Amino acid sequence: MAVVIVVGTQWGDEGKGKVIDILTQRADLVGRFQGGANAGHTIVVEGKQFILHLIPSGILHATKRCVIGNGVVLDPKILLQEIDALAASGVAVGPERLAISERAQVIMPYHQAIDCGREERKAGAKLGTTGRGIGPCYEDKAARTGVRAVDLLDPQRLKDKLAPRLEEKNFYLTHNLHGQPLEAEAVWREYAAYGERLAPYVTNVSLLIDEALQQGRHILLEGAQGTHLDIDHGTYPFVTSSNTVAGAACAGIGIGPTKIGHVVGLVKAYTTRVGAGPFPTELSDEVGDRLQERGAEFGATTGRRRRCGWLDAVLLRNAVRLNGISSLAVTKLDVLCGTSPLKICTAYKLGGRLIHCPPPEAEDLARCEPVYEEVAGWEAEISGVRKLSDLPAEARAYLARIEELCGAPVSLVSVGPGREQTILVKDVFA
Ligand code: IMP
Repeated sequence: MAVVIVVGTQWGDEGKGKVIDILTQRADLVGRFQGGANAGHTIVVEGKQFILHLIPSGILHATKRCVIGNGVVLDPKILLQEIDALAASGVAVGPERLAISERAQVIMPYHQAIDCGREERKAGAKLGTTGRGIGPCYEDKAARTGVRAVDLLDPQRLKDKLAPRLEEKNFYLTHNLHGQPLEAEAVWREYAAYGERLAPYVTNVSLLIDEALQQGRHILLEGAQGTHLDIDHGTYPFVTSSNTVAGAACAGIGIGPTKIGHVVGLVKAYTTRVGAGPFPTELSDEVGDRLQERGAEFGATTGRRRRCGWLDAVLLRNAVRLNGISSLAVTKLDVLCGTSPLKICTAYKLGGRLIHCPPPEAEDLARCEPVYEEVAGWEAEISGVRKLSDLPAEARAYLARIEELCGAPVSLVSVGPGREQTILVKDVFA
């Protein structure tokens, strides 16, 4: 029995989908513990591409059970679309394969309308959210006015809960955001119908995980977004609305911290960010364009072009500490082929002072100048390499330097989008 948590160390999009897909081979059960359909996992299996926003990518392994925890904000419309799309591709997703926490908060149409309405009104000061209603849904959770998965199962209870919520939201939508009101009856009918379809999947996830642990099963808990999008520890306010760090896995799925055996930190071999917010190592030149093109850096959820830059070890060290990372999975190493020299940011300069940890204020982080060290790059394509020792010496040195700067060993290296394009260094479940 082992519980492994996988988290992103940067600003999300570290290639979680593929790494989780690989680690799932050793797991019996895979769970999501926070975030919602703002995440997007792209997985390529036998040349076929799947993009999943809510369902853990473990679903592509026929014998694995997937779980959506209470920490997730659930968009039932998107979830059902995913279930249907998977079924159309030959992946049946019945309740024996997918469980949804009865306590998961539900994203309602007013959450999305408020998210988009606020962003539109912000003009020059947008956060660049994914427009999926994530923030407004977590707001209602904290305000104790949310609708939860369990509420969808009882049409009368749903109706009773919706009436006062819609009155308040419609006032806000029309008066503050100058948008359109939502019609209570239509919203109720739509969501009660989702409830009917989802009912067989909704259960007590904490009990289910506990049972799996007692049977000695291996469990993989996947985070969404990345450490620096964490609402407390990220680049506030340019963050998402949940805790993305490993500590959130326990609360978001319903298990205790004593059960966690290993935390894998995902490190993209360079840095990307989608949406607004400070990014000290961002490259606005042809090197950045090259990383963007070679890495196909477009958001899986919004299709937005991702901003690209050099690897930032200040962020990585911060993530190793915040998450208690046991090992690193380095992704997209192949994208760096042909770029030389490479730069790694080892510290920031702020107001003439050298600092080694991101400052709490986004404006201060935006003023930080990266302090770089240069390392040699390599020319040879590495997407066919399957053993560390077959990598060019410069690529091995790059990995060794990451380990040294982070104080954590590398357990996996990804050299391409395919499942087979992976160098496994250590079994994290062992
Ligand atoms: P929200 O989570 O939609 O509220 O967006 C808040 C910020 O988090 C924006 O900058 C988004 O671009 C970013 N974000 C949300 N989800 C992801 C993700 O899965 N990958 C990368 N960035 C994300």
